[in-house]
Amino acid sequence: MGFILAAVGSAVGLGNIWRFPFITGQYGGSSFLITYLAFVALIGFPAILVEFVIGRYTNLNPVGAIRELGSGAWNYLGWLFVAIGFVILSYYSVVAGWFLRYTLIGVIDGYTLAGPEEAGQLFGTVTTGLDSLLFHAVFMALVIGIIAAGVRKGIEVGVKVMVPAIIALLVGLAAYAFTLDASGAAYSYYLSPDFEYLLANWTSILPAAAGQAFFTLSLGMGVMITYASYLGEDRNLASDAGVIVALDTLIAVIVGFVVFPFLFAAGIEPGGPGASAIFVSLTSAFSTIPGGRLIGIVFFAMVGIAALSSAISILEVLVSYLIDEAGVSRVPAATAIGVAVFLLGVPVTVDLIFLDLYDKLADGILLVLGSLLLALFVGWVIPDIAREELQKGIGDLGGLGTAWIWIVRVPIVIVVVVSLYLGIVDYADFLTGSFAEWLAAR
Ligand code: TRP
Repeated sequence: MGFILAAVGSAVGLGNIWRFPFITGQYGGSSFLITYLAFVALIGFPAILVEFVIGRYTNLNPVGAIRELGSGAWNYLGWLFVAIGFVILSYYSVVAGWFLRYTLIGVIDGYTLAGPEEAGQLFGTVTTGLDSLLFHAVFMALVIGIIAAGVRKGIEVGVKVMVPAIIALLVGLAAYAFTLDASGAAYSYYLSPDFEYLLANWTSILPAAAGQAFFTLSLGMGVMITYASYLGEDRNLASDAGVIVALDTLIAVIVGFVVFPFLFAAGIEPGGPGASAIFVSLTSAFSTIPGGRLIGIVFFAMVGIAALSSAISILEVLVSYLIDEAGVSRVPAATAIGVAVFLLGVPVTVDLIFLDLYDKLADGILLVLGSLLLALFVGWVIPDIAREELQKGIGDLGGLGTAWIWIVRVPIVIVVVVSLYLGIVDYADFLTGSFAEWLAAR
């Protein structure tokens, strides 16, 4: 039970609530949704099993696990995990800080915004300068504190409360959104697939869906290896993975049923708001819904807890690496790494272009690369160990283990290689386009 809670706590976070609606809006709504769902089912699910078998077989942290099972160049995989963790956590903490700030805004002033324009202005204030920096610092301090103290229990309780609360609030908000006049248009944007659009834009939709799938499931940097290392041999890894994937995907999909109707009702282009999508749509909603202030406070606070349980899963990988490699003890390791991560995040509080710079790198390239290497490792280096490990607690199931190995060996590798290539092309476009323009304007 502790394992499922910890893994769900890691998976459910800003990826579902903040990143999913923002990316879905940017990549065409329904066309993105369908690609993302296919990716989660066909690649995310087998890929989570890849990390589970490594973790449970070795009972080690990701870096130690790869070292025990592999040799030579595979040992560098640990470095990749650490690099990914640094980049992701640095901006994750900044965004989580925004949720803390929005909680406080509800407590102090309530959400009394005249309309979407004012909501956009508020977002601008919250996300730049000292305001953003301060809450980034507060969030990182919480993460460091929890990891330094090594408290597991508190987190499990947090997850037990947070996940049902978030689902209940989202379902309630989605029901309210259903009553808006604009909901019909929003549902068709979100749900009726536009295959022409998909065909015309698949080269950008595919890498975006791949990155989002790995990000939201906490894959590609060894987090799930860590959690599975605590598991007993009697657990059925496939059904545990199924629960985690289903819950995580369900939450993201419901968020779409909340965000898009409110955006359409406010007359906002779904692709327009980018990183502000969830904030602009919800603060306008909380300004008008009866009881909106209380609902808003609880909602933003719950997302803050969700972000905390995800962030600690990332810092834990970095800290356990330093502890094992350098023999540093827990408190100084957590403090040193936490402060370094905080500093890396500072540019994001200065200008949101850095959010894109970090997020596109980590998500479009690094996580996809991490998952690719893990799939190659399991599929081609330790296939027999992996198959046997999967079958513990499950049984043979008519060759399911063998089928899984072949899925990991070939189709996953092909799709992920294509996604990685397209992600690199996209990032190069960003660096020579928007980012170069931003630099030139300085
Ligand atoms: N999955 C988390 C979310 O959706 C974020 C996260 C936690 C993560 N651990 C990770 C992302 C490891 C990538 C890798 O918010």
